[in-house]
Amino acid sequence: MSAAAERQVSAFLGGLRRLSRQVGLYPEGHPATQEAVELLGEAVQEFLDGEPEVTLTIFQEAFFRNRVVVPHASLEYRSLLQEMEQRGLETITLVPPISAADLFDLAAFVGGVSDDLPADGTIVLNEPMTVDPELDPTPASKLRTSYGNVLDAIRHASSAMVVRGSFELGTVVDAVEGLFEHTLSHPGAALLLSTVKSHDEYTFFHSVNVCILSLAVGQMIGVDRDVLVPAGVGAVLHDIGKVAVSPEILNYPGRLSAEQWKEIEIHPQEGALAILAAGGEGSEIAANVAFEHHARFDGEGYPRVSRVRRPHVYSRLVQVVDTYDAITSRRAYRRAEGPSRALQILLDGAGSYWDPDLVRAFIQMMGVYPPGSILRVDDGAIAVVVSRTEEPGAPLSVVTVVGPDGCHLDEPEPTILPLDRVVRQELPDDVGVDPASLLETIEGGLRV
Ligand SMILES: [Fe+2]
Repeated sequence: MSAAAERQVSAFLGGLRRLSRQVGLYPEGHPATQEAVELLGEAVQEFLDGEPEVTLTIFQEAFFRNRVVVPHASLEYRSLLQEMEQRGLETITLVPPISAADLFDLAAFVGGVSDDLPADGTIVLNEPMTVDPELDPTPASKLRTSYGNVLDAIRHASSAMVVRGSFELGTVVDAVEGLFEHTLSHPGAALLLSTVKSHDEYTFFHSVNVCILSLAVGQMIGVDRDVLVPAGVGAVLHDIGKVAVSPEILNYPGRLSAEQWKEIEIHPQEGALAILAAGGEGSEIAANVAFEHHARFDGEGYPRVSRVRRPHVYSRLVQVVDTYDAITSRRAYRRAEGPSRALQILLDGAGSYWDPDLVRAFIQMMGVYPPGSILRVDDGAIAVVVSRTEEPGAPLSVVTVVGPDGCHLDEPEPTILPLDRVVRQELPDDVGVDPASLLETIEGGLRV
C-alpha cells in the first residue's frame, strides 16, 4: 500500500517538521508549542494506522515506513531527512500510546535544540538492526537520488544568491549531469518522478521538474548532450533571478500594478547575469535559457528580444515544459490541472506562446495519458499510467491501485488497459493516489 504509506509518512513528517521549528522559538509549555504537539500527536495516529509498533527508517537518502520505501516523502521532506541524518538518526520506532513529552523531546532533538532523548519509552531512537543491510539501490532509487541532488543544488544556489549575490555553477552542472544519465536510461520513470510536487517549496521542486522534463524531451528529439546538459542547468536555474524581486511582490495575492510587473520582469535578466557571472562551461546556454524563458514564440512576452529572432530552441523547449509543470501543480490560488488538460492548453497556445513543433514533440513524448496520469476505468477502478505509449491509440501500461469496489489494493496490480476503457482522468488530491509513490514498487522502476 505505497500510496497509503506515503500519506502516513507525510503526515508524520509534516507534523514533526512543524514542531521541530516551533520548539526553537517557544518553550515547552507555550500554547503554540502545545498546539503543534497535539497536531503531531494526531499525525502520529495516522502514521501508526492501528499497528502496535511502526518504525520510520532513514536509509540511502530515503524514508521507509517499516520496510516500504516512500519516494515522494523522501524528496518532499529531504531537508528534514538531512537534518535527521546530521543528528545521527537512523530509525525512529513508535510504540503507542505515544506520550506528549516524547513527541516534544523528539522534535527538540531533531531540531537540534536539545540532546535529550525521548525518555518515556514510547519513541525509541536508533533501535539496533532495523535497517536492512541487503537493500541494494535500484535504478529507480538512483534516479530519485539524482533528483534529490539537483534539489540540493538549486536550494544551495538560491541561498548563496540571497546571502552573497552569486553562486557556484559547478555543483549544479554535476547534479544535472547525474540526473541526465539516469533519465537517459529510464525516461518513463523520470516522467513518473516529475509528478513529485511540494506545496511548501513549490519553486525548488518546480525547477527540478522542469529540468527532468527538459532532459527527457530533449533526448527524445535528439538534442546533443553538450547542449542538453547546459540547457538542463538553465532549466533548474531559470527563475534564480527571482531573488532580486521583493517577496511581497512575488507572493502578492491580487492583481499586480504596472510598477510591480516591472519589478517581476527583471528576473530573467538578473538570472542570466548571475549565471554568466558564475561562468564555466555551458554557462552561456544556461544563461540564454534564463534570459529567454518568458520570451514568447511570436515575439511577445518579456524581455522584448526581437520579432525576427526567436528565443533559442532549447529555451523554447524549457518554456513548454515549464508551462506543463506549472499547470499540473497545485498553487495557493488555483488547483492543479490533470496532464491532458495541460497538454490541451499547450496545444491552444502553440504558435503564439510556444513553438508548435516542440509542443507537438512534447505531446508525442507524453502521449495522451503521460506516465503519472491517474485514470478512472469503466468498472470504477483507478489505475496509474506507468509507461510511455509509443504508438498512438495503443493500450496503456498501467498499475491498478484502487479496485472496482473503491478499496486501495495492498499490492498495486500491473495491467494492460485499452484506451476505450478510460472514463476520465482524476487528480491526486481528489482520489488519494500518489503516482510518484509507485516509483520503486514496480519491479524497481525498470519497467517504466
Ligand atoms: Fe520566470
